[in-house]
Amino acid sequence: MQNVKLNNGIEMPILGYGVYMVDPSITERCVLDALSVGYRSLDTAQYYENEAMVGAAVRASGIPRDEIFITSKLCQTRPSYAQAKENVKGSLRRMKLDYLDLMLIHWPMGNDSDIWLAFEDLVKEGYLRSIGVSNFYPETYEALVKNASVIPAVNQIETHVFYQQRPMVELMARYGTAVESWGPLAEGLNGIFSHPALMEVGNAHGKTAAQVALRFLIQQGIIVIPKSVHKERMIQNMDVFDFELSEDEMAAVRRLDTGHNLEGWPADALRYNP
Ligand SMILES: NC(=O)c1ccc[n+]([C@@H]2O[C@H](COP(=O)([O-])OP(=O)(O)OC[C@H]3O[C@@H](n4cnc5c(N)ncnc54)[C@H](OP(=O)(O)O)[C@@H]3O)[C@@H](O)[C@H]2O)c1
Repeated sequence: MQNVKLNNGIEMPILGYGVYMVDPSITERCVLDALSVGYRSLDTAQYYENEAMVGAAVRASGIPRDEIFITSKLCQTRPSYAQAKENVKGSLRRMKLDYLDLMLIHWPMGNDSDIWLAFEDLVKEGYLRSIGVSNFYPETYEALVKNASVIPAVNQIETHVFYQQRPMVELMARYGTAVESWGPLAEGLNGIFSHPALMEVGNAHGKTAAQVALRFLIQQGIIVIPKSVHKERMIQNMDVFDFELSEDEMAAVRRLDTGHNLEGWPADALRYNP
């Protein structure tokens, strides 16, 4: 597994397993499958209501805790500093973990500077190893870092072959914040798995369209967390480190960018408007 070195020196696997929309009743089984085939990074969130099952799977796997990178995300509108701290401790209690490798603000919550201060202090107190944001676009991102002592390690944003977000990727590079893709397989939409351009590139390497889509992101240093409830797809999605897209192939995939996300809302639609 290839790692990305975050701006605090901590190494994060460039490919992990996401559990959005994985039903709580099957989450423990799915995470155990993912760990058994080699995933060592897990992405959950309070919003997904399956944090407890992710924690249970980690314990049931028998894999040492320090070999698994675990991310969750805070979801609470306008918490105070104290409430934000308590909120994160709630995730730890549900997951029965002593610490998280990465905690994100799931989307701008309205008083992000207070949440961020709480996150910074939770790092000092040993509850969090790294802290970051998700769905923060230029305005909310820059408002946050203006008052921050710690620059976000990660910004998890929607990005995939159909929505490549090049200006955001460049902005994050300027700040030293790693880009993590949510929906790296475009959530299965837009006919991605049988897209002719992706299949043509894939055929040249004996790979699927899904593998080309993931490789395209990884090759730019973007962290990916594809989700599947099927073990054979989990294996397929991990099998992207033994081939490389040429410059021409990267250019062919770059041409698939539509410039807008799949739901049709603009990039800053998640900006909090009190
Ligand atoms: N921060 C945020 O706001 C945010 C928002 C959305 C997602 N996320 C995170 O990002 C993760 C990934 O995004 P996502 O789950 O929305 O979408 P995704 O990973 O882009 O796509 C998942 C879809 O693709 C299918 N699939 C996966 N691998 C496949 C393959 N090799 N061949 C064919 N079909 C395949 C899955 O179906 P099956 O499960 O049936 O295989 C599922 O329908 C989430 O799980 C979550 O952790 C974060």
